Amino acid sequence: MKSNENREIVDVDLAERSYQIVICTDELSQFPAMARNWLDGLAHWKSETPSAMLISDSHVSGLLGDSILKGLRDDGWQAELFTFEAGESAKSVSNTEKIYDALVDMQADRKTCIIAVGGGVVGDLAGFAAATYARGLPFIQVPTTLLADVDSSVGGKVGVNHPRGKNLIGAFHQPLGVYIDTACLQSLPERDYRSGLAEVVKYGVILDAEFFEYLEAHVGEINSRNPDVLREIVSKSCRLKADVVEEDEFERDGLRAMLNYGHTFAHAYETLCGYGELTHGEAVAIGMIDASYLAEKMKRIDSHVIERQVKLLEDLNLPTTLPEDVSLSPDAVLSSMKLDKKTVAGKLRFILPSRVGHVEVTPDVSEDLVQQLLEQRLLQK
Ligand SMILES: NC(=O)c1ccc[n+]([C@@H]2O[C@H](COP(=O)([O-])OP(=O)(O)OC[C@H]3O[C@@H](n4cnc5c(N)ncnc54)[C@H](O)[C@@H]3O)[C@@H](O)[C@H]2O)c1
Ligand SMILES: [Zn+2]
Repeated sequence: MKSNENREIVDVDLAERSYQIVICTDELSQFPAMARNWLDGLAHWKSETPSAMLISDSHVSGLLGDSILKGLRDDGWQAELFTFEAGESAKSVSNTEKIYDALVDMQADRKTCIIAVGGGVVGDLAGFAAATYARGLPFIQVPTTLLADVDSSVGGKVGVNHPRGKNLIGAFHQPLGVYIDTACLQSLPERDYRSGLAEVVKYGVILDAEFFEYLEAHVGEINSRNPDVLREIVSKSCRLKADVVEEDEFERDGLRAMLNYGHTFAHAYETLCGYGELTHGEAVAIGMIDASYLAEKMKRIDSHVIERQVKLLEDLNLPTTLPEDVSLSPDAVLSSMKLDKKTVAGKLRFILPSRVGHVEVTPDVSEDLVQQLLEQRLLQK
């Protein structure tokens, strides 16, 4: 990781698809120059007047999209802004078609760059349009949520939802660059901020005990969104995820699966609780503790590993058990987990910690044990 006074750079090394993640604070005015620089690296990019379509949502376009658009136009770009209604339901095939229409209207060609300004929803949708229009347009991400900074903008997965399956229609399309200005996070609603923190804690547990200790030692600064600490946790998280993606770009050898720590439980809770009850990060926080109790039952860890995670998550105002007013039956959770796409031939597979900083993909966990765990966690809360 390179760094100067106010900027960290994470290099994502993927042969000819390699790119940089730049992490800065209060430097959106530098974005047009950086974007030009990234485009200049493209072999077919010789245009004097760069052209771009910015894609954003109804919450972010007024906060950030308009000023980024102005910055690009002032820098000589031919740029348009496409805005859609904020929310997960925007990640649809029909919105992708609307983006295609707007690209046709602006006579986009393979030099037109798609720039996503927003959270994971914007990045996934804009990236999918970029991956598919004219067999692939250059794509740049300007993530504006913590989850997008540390998770969805790293790794090249883009896609939209099908009415019967989340992220069912998608592609791998690496960006030319990712520009993270942590000042964008100041306007993020508290619940969305905390949701992203769950993924940050996840990286500590699965990959890096020292990072976990750093988080434990900086809870106050994290909660107050201190700029220096934000740059540190964002760049470290990007580096950790990038390391995994570099080893398993196309999710072929199973290494990327470790990023799903806590997610088998989380997906079941998100599905069964219905929209709005739990954010993704809240469900992941609870799911990581479930997975840890399961690991303890299997004698892989002692209770100290659970206690440290519970304490850190609680200090970051994240839940570690389902809310009091939610009652789910162990059977329903178990059936939902078996339908999860990460189950192989109906067998339950979990990502379980062996200590803080290390996890193992554990196939074929006994259903009885999971049933017992769920009874303990869901019925005795
Ligand atoms: N591609 C991947 O690898 C990957 C990984 C993880 C998650 N995801 C996807 O990411 C999506 C979730 O991302 P998310 O949590 O960022 O959700 P999101 O994009 O819906 O953003 C959350 C909310 O915050 C608002 N917002 C965004 N930036 C803001 C800012 N700076 N100030 C104020 N409000 C702001 C948004 O308008 C939205 O209302 C899901 O669709 C998920 O499937 C993708
Ligand atoms: Zn997640």
